[in-house]
Amino acid sequence: MVRSAILLDQPSKSGQYNFYEISNGQSVQVEDIILSEKAKESNRLDVVHHMMVMLCDEKLHLAPIGPSPQNILDIGAGTGLWCCQMGDDYPSAQILGVDLSAIRNTVYGTPDNVRFEIDDIECEWTFIDSFDYIHCRYMYAAIRDWPKLVDRCYNHLLPGGWVEFQDFDVHWYSDDGTYDPQSALGRWFSLFYEAGCRHGRELSPGPRLEGWVRRAGFKDVVVKKMRVPVGRWPKDERLKTVGTWNLLQVIDGMEGFSMALFSRILGWSPDAIQAFLSEVVKDLRNPKMHAQFDLYIVYGRKPESNNGQN
Ligand SMILES: C[S@@+](CC[C@H](N)C(=O)[O-])C[C@H]1O[C@@H](n2cnc3c(N)ncnc32)[C@H](O)[C@@H]1O
Repeated sequence: MVRSAILLDQPSKSGQYNFYEISNGQSVQVEDIILSEKAKESNRLDVVHHMMVMLCDEKLHLAPIGPSPQNILDIGAGTGLWCCQMGDDYPSAQILGVDLSAIRNTVYGTPDNVRFEIDDIECEWTFIDSFDYIHCRYMYAAIRDWPKLVDRCYNHLLPGGWVEFQDFDVHWYSDDGTYDPQSALGRWFSLFYEAGCRHGRELSPGPRLEGWVRRAGFKDVVVKKMRVPVGRWPKDERLKTVGTWNLLQVIDGMEGFSMALFSRILGWSPDAIQAFLSEVVKDLRNPKMHAQFDLYIVYGRKPESNNGQN
């Protein structure tokens, strides 16, 4: 079953490359968010949703939450597509999606058991503290303090409740040497990573998730690592499709990923960034390059008893 509607629009020519935040329902420029929040970004996030679900064999989650969860939280809900599809799959559940911004998918209708709140997930949680499942996907570059967030998930879950993180290790590589760290793409990645680190964000939370989840006290922890191809190069048909969506979203997101970081953190001019990105996109489109990066899925259960024995 294909779960997501995919809409694509033309690349933005607006030239606005700032950090944004929602304040009193208005989008205002601040220093705090790396990724763009325009319509283009909303469409790109729906492509990523589609890709992630496909990587998980068309499942919205891997944690064994049972057939009738009651309260589900989605951290950084993005377009809300995940929440809406969970709402349809689990009519027993009330689903809350929290995000700094309102960039919701308006094609997929919102089920009655789904609601959204605009809030900063790194501030004190004002919503209920009795979730039986908390989901947090694709939040790299967004979270300042991951251990604190994981602890907060633990504290807001019911005993026996599940947490699930799905996030990337954004280091690009290839198995056959066709990804060249000295290429424009390779240099772009080094600069992007350096700028993200200087901005105080974890750009590769994936490999660290297990440690944070275990340290918070979760039990029955399961870790899955998946390769995410970029491009149509895999022989396997499913991975070829994943790689095609991934290439599409990377190219579509390149401006948004780069402009704020390269201009504000590295001091590049918009013209220099655009010229560099056109070289990077040429590399991305090179079918001889077999690039990939990794996705980590980590889920665990809050013990039934306080001493963690169960
Ligand atoms: C890369 S998107 C991922 C969206 C969604 N989780 C998904 O998998 O499609 C990151 C989302 O996190 C939101 N975000 C970033 N920082 C946040 C924060 N401190 N609190 C709540 N949402 C945040 C952004 O507005 C954006 O919608």
